[in-house]
Amino acid sequence: MHLIGTDDLSKDAINRILDIAEDIAAGKSVASVKEHSTLGLLFELPSTRTHVSFDVAMARLGGHSVYLDTNVSQMSRGESIADTARVLSGYCDFIAARVKKHQSVVELAENSRVPVINALSDLEHPTQALADAFTIRSHKVNLGNIKIAFMGDVAQNTANSIMLTAAKLGADVALIGPKGFYPNSVYVNRAMEYTKVVHTTSLEDGLEDADVVYTDTYVSMGKESEAEKRRKLFAPYQLNSSALKYANKDAIVMHPLPAHRGEEITDDVIDGKQSVVWEQSRNKMIVNQAILVYLSQNH
Ligand code: NVA
Repeated sequence: MHLIGTDDLSKDAINRILDIAEDIAAGKSVASVKEHSTLGLLFELPSTRTHVSFDVAMARLGGHSVYLDTNVSQMSRGESIADTARVLSGYCDFIAARVKKHQSVVELAENSRVPVINALSDLEHPTQALADAFTIRSHKVNLGNIKIAFMGDVAQNTANSIMLTAAKLGADVALIGPKGFYPNSVYVNRAMEYTKVVHTTSLEDGLEDADVVYTDTYVSMGKESEAEKRRKLFAPYQLNSSALKYANKDAIVMHPLPAHRGEEITDDVIDGKQSVVWEQSRNKMIVNQAILVYLSQNH
């Protein structure tokens, strides 16, 4: 079994991972990965949280990780992803890969003998969404009765993974952003099989009754050439204190980081009382342990 996209996990599987994470967070002893397990981290793109949280997660499980930047690997000289997968899966017990094109992580999985985890692609960020669901669950208990509002660039990896993970757990989803940036219809249609999903250009409508307000960068990795245009178009969708007033009073504020303070989110909101951003970030380490345990039990 691999974790390439959110649809690799059923609702039960998501809940199982969150339950393992809850036990880990509570300091209970949980099943671990096999002794001396190794996680290969194959990264084509920069990373702070995902890299370190997987590294530490593996150490906490009694294993270790090996980080390989593709720029200093033979992939930079043309070795194929398929051959790289064949080689790495001969050394490692898991591979987590951060790739520019989603198809690369698919190919990696197709040619790997060990579980492959998508550590972010242009289409999905499934491990982030699991850590987010864990964070939401610890504040809102039951995702079945809540509304998650995702604002800004709704046509990107985090939005797709959050939308589908939240939908599988029963949360309503509102996607709020400017005309011209439409959410991925495959993800919207899948999510609508589980829950209500609306896409709106109105901050007021989208944020009404929201229990979770989520935002992410205007300029995801790979979109740097559109930065100027994006900053202009997304500016009205900044998560600031006026926007936050439209949501429920006890709504929590989330961001996968890195934050571009003063762009998609203001200092007072990210540092404010409603923000759970640092806890959300820390939870990646807990949930990544749970993902590794779950995959080792289900491969
Ligand atoms: N959507 C962002 C997420 C970073 C963790 C990006 O792809 O750059």
